[in-house]
Amino acid sequence: MLELSAVTYAPATVGSTVLKGVSLHAAKGQPLLIAGASGSGKTSLLEVISGLAGSQTGSIQWQGKTLNRRQRRWLCGMVFQFPERHFLGLTVSQELRLGHRRLGQEKEQEVLMRVGLQGIAGSTAPERLSGGQQRRLALAVQLLRGAEVLLLDEPTAGLDWSVREDVLQLLSNLATDQVLIVVTHEPELFSGWDCQRMRLRDGVLEPMTTLPRA
Ligand SMILES: Nc1ncnc2c1ncn2[C@@H]1O[C@H](COP(=O)(O)OP(=O)(O)O)[C@@H](O)[C@H]1O
Ligand SMILES: [Mg+2]
Repeated sequence: MLELSAVTYAPATVGSTVLKGVSLHAAKGQPLLIAGASGSGKTSLLEVISGLAGSQTGSIQWQGKTLNRRQRRWLCGMVFQFPERHFLGLTVSQELRLGHRRLGQEKEQEVLMRVGLQGIAGSTAPERLSGGQQRRLALAVQLLRGAEVLLLDEPTAGLDWSVREDVLQLLSNLATDQVLIVVTHEPELFSGWDCQRMRLRDGVLEPMTTLPRA
């Protein structure tokens, strides 16, 4: 289980406090969905959890132990908003192998299967994949890294509705074995999703008791 207690984040470059005493817990089995308007601090929260941003106060624990920034970088897999803009490999295989020079064919196929990309040739250029397939590839890269906590920033942004449903289904499936935290400014798209729901409002995180308007 991942647990944040009273996490406050006030980066020197920002005049104000971006996260104000955020507490949450997320466990395998059910994703945590955090809704919030633009500028409420969603991306900052994921950056702090994943150790990409530092200098927060409060504690971040994994299985009851406080982890430092470096340890959290190993633990967490961040899937950025529009992850396809960050692909570096010329092919699907290359993208998967970036941090794994000796990745076997079998392991590659196994991870592609886990994200529903079985049957995709490793020689395919990432930009030739559809929008939904690109999101799956970004997830595969983090799974290969062995990330136990997956952090997704606006995973439905820019996808059309049919693909969106598939991606949400995949995320639900992954949440069985992975701690999964999703942040979004469009929670209504997740109305049918089985998850724990919270709302971030100007850096303050609160439980969401009512479903968002459809
Ligand atoms: N590195 C930074 N430099 C300046 N302002 C930042 C930085 N990171 C975050 N902020 C500010 O922090 C607040 C939260 O931003 P962000 O986490 O991106 O929110 P969201 O993802 O919900 O849109 C905003 O007011 C934003 O301008
Ligand atoms: Mg954001």
